Amino acid sequence: MNYLADSNRYAEMMYRRCGKSGLKLPAISLGLWHNFGRTDNLKTCRDILTCAFDNGITYFDLANNYGPPPGSAEENFGKMVSDNFKAYRDELVIATKAGYTMWNGPYGDWGSKKYLVSSLDQSLKRMKLDYVDIFYHHRPDLETPLEETMSALDLIVRQGKALYVGLSNYKTTEGVKAMTLLHRLGTPCIIHQPKYSMFERWVEDGLLELLAKEDVGCIPFSPLAQGMLTDRYLNGIPEDSRVAKGVGFLTPDHLTPDRIDTIEKLNHLAIERRQKLSQMALSWILKDRRIPSVLIGASRTQQVLDAVHCLDNMDFTSDELNKIESILK
Ligand SMILES: NC(=O)c1ccc[n+]([C@@H]2O[C@H](COP(=O)([O-])OP(=O)(O)OC[C@H]3O[C@@H](n4cnc5c(N)ncnc54)[C@H](OP(=O)(O)O)[C@@H]3O)[C@@H](O)[C@H]2O)c1
Repeated sequence: MNYLADSNRYAEMMYRRCGKSGLKLPAISLGLWHNFGRTDNLKTCRDILTCAFDNGITYFDLANNYGPPPGSAEENFGKMVSDNFKAYRDELVIATKAGYTMWNGPYGDWGSKKYLVSSLDQSLKRMKLDYVDIFYHHRPDLETPLEETMSALDLIVRQGKALYVGLSNYKTTEGVKAMTLLHRLGTPCIIHQPKYSMFERWVEDGLLELLAKEDVGCIPFSPLAQGMLTDRYLNGIPEDSRVAKGVGFLTPDHLTPDRIDTIEKLNHLAIERRQKLSQMALSWILKDRRIPSVLIGASRTQQVLDAVHCLDNMDFTSDELNKIESILK
């Protein structure tokens, strides 16, 4: 199907440099962890992707195991890229990862060179691409020598299969070792992908400082705590929500009365700021200049548009910031 991108797509989006690399990222990036698998509606997937690109979102985040079943998000994305985005390949930053279990046996998981190289070859086939823009090691592997994992990332770049490399879920001490090795190999880590939201603050305990010192960009994932930092669950659990679908890690027991109470208070504050809660949660992360982009998920186009419009109100007064902290206590 022919798709003609909006000619004004770069007008409103903010682009920020990722660490000290040459790569600029949109402040809002889109991930395909949920809602893009074989069980999802391909037309909705296509609508979400085209809406994102029409609004200046250029970074699309995948991993070998996204689905369900694992691999199917890459397959669907590959279909949509070859059907709709072929003319725009040079305007897209496409990322994938390997690190979690992808196939049976000793070579389908963790961080060996054998696994990482084979996995990226499979991802490229599924997505019908010659290269990805960013390849991440998805999680640290305490058994494989870090030297081997990092030299696999270096090899992949030298082979032309990825332009840049990144790390995900590495804690501060593991991260510094990995970044030093990559630096020595001549393939610097340009980006780190940790979980970070108002509800998940561990990166503030050293990782963000490290990334600033090493000039590595931070792209937080699940900035909306998988949907809890929105108005989605304020009146129960909608049938079409991530919690109700029961396909991931967000379960009804996350929605305790205390948590709902916190969400309600944050929602009121967002309304006072003339924003949706989802928008306030994204602006709150993006106020930190060490963070070039936040990585959202979406099950419909309106959620993409909501996210993009968080950029309309990025400033917080110190009173608002204090109120947020006291609500979160
Ligand atoms: N590196 C890693 O280990 C790792 C791990 C997890 C995720 N990630 C990456 O991060 C991306 C984002 O993760 P995530 O999907 O958990 O992010 P998220 O942005 O925290 O949650 C997305 C979900 O929030 C809900 N939502 C979004 N906007 C909304 C709005 N305006 N109003 C109401 N609800 C809204 C939707 O839930 P409904 O489906 O209920 O509508 C949506 O699916 C993933 O796709 C993946 O690329 C990486």
